[in-house]
Amino acid sequence: MAHYQSMGSIPPKRHTQHRRPAGRGKQGELYYEELMGEEGFSSDSSLLYHRNIPSTISGAREWAIRDLSTTPNHPLTPRHLKLHDLFAAKEVKDTDVVTGRRLVLGNGDVRISYAVAGAPSPWYRNGIGDECVYVERGQARVETVFGAFDVAEGDYLVIPRATTHRWIPKRSTRDPLRAYCIEGNSHISPPKRYLSRYGQLLEHAPYCERDLRGPAGPLLAEDVGAREGEETEVYIKHRGNGPSGIVGTIHTLPFHPLDVVGWDGCLYPYAFNVRDFEPITGRVHQPPPVHQVFEGFNFVICNFVPRKVDYHPLSIPVPYYHSNVDSDEVMFYVDGDYEARRGSGIGKGSISLHPGGHSHGPQPGAVQNALGKDYFDELAVMVDTFRPLELGEAARASDDDAYAWSWAGGRKQS
Ligand SMILES: [Fe+2]
Repeated sequence: MAHYQSMGSIPPKRHTQHRRPAGRGKQGELYYEELMGEEGFSSDSSLLYHRNIPSTISGAREWAIRDLSTTPNHPLTPRHLKLHDLFAAKEVKDTDVVTGRRLVLGNGDVRISYAVAGAPSPWYRNGIGDECVYVERGQARVETVFGAFDVAEGDYLVIPRATTHRWIPKRSTRDPLRAYCIEGNSHISPPKRYLSRYGQLLEHAPYCERDLRGPAGPLLAEDVGAREGEETEVYIKHRGNGPSGIVGTIHTLPFHPLDVVGWDGCLYPYAFNVRDFEPITGRVHQPPPVHQVFEGFNFVICNFVPRKVDYHPLSIPVPYYHSNVDSDEVMFYVDGDYEARRGSGIGKGSISLHPGGHSHGPQPGAVQNALGKDYFDELAVMVDTFRPLELGEAARASDDDAYAWSWAGGRKQS
């Protein structure tokens, strides 16, 4: 993130001695300074002050990550995937957001997974790239070495690569925690065109720094009812030689990972709620980039929020047919009525995959139905990728075979 934050106990000058408090006339033990930085030492970074040597591990074993296999979308068809069919109610209490997420779609740049979770996750860090987790329903507390977040419906939580954290669903809420997990192989940030050359969000951006929530911290073992010296396992997702190029390792630490007494810098997790996205509208239809909220390498994240729609007297508020020849488009329908997909079978919890090489647009009748409307009550999260997406096991398990033929009145031609 662009702007500087400082939290907890840090020394006045970086890379200088910083010690635990001690009795009168005594010198406390040194804290251990760690720089967490992107792009070597050439981009955003933070300095964290640990009670323990952050390199210390006392064990390492394999973590067999849930099925990450993918199959090509071949023969090429648009797809409708029903994510709400993926988790039976009785599975939820034992499912957590980290080990329980099921792979829906993925390529060499980004993976989209889904979890309905009632159990706390283990401590976890993703050593491959940043994660952007969208909370579709429910609430959770997310504890990180930078501090804690309370997240709820509509929140994106952007978690930088290698941040140790865990997800704890709140059980008292009406809905279970439904998490839509976007894992990049790169960093995920606000779109560059919305940033000044020094990183401030510009006036034409649909959100600003005030809309971003940093962690509440510092957060230490004793703050979560744990002991400082408590042995803890941390699940690490990292690059390897498996079929997906991704493998897992579990490290044992001889202490609790919440040992950061203070930190400062421009790299840290942050939350943003989709309700704080100010839609950009026009007299005639605006192209999808106005809905962009974040970007990673070779993919973008957009959101379609409830908004006033096109107000030219002869406007057509639903999209024109479009062949986005350079990308695959994944729309996740969260709430409201999605006008362009009316009559297609798509509802809340659905995904549509519109692949490059196939022109797509409104279902038959949707253009006529939309004429004269001045407001769309819809909420959807979109990921566009520049390399083709393949189908994960969760896509294969939730595919509605009829969607491809919905523009032909539901008929498959033999
Ligand atoms: Fe589209």
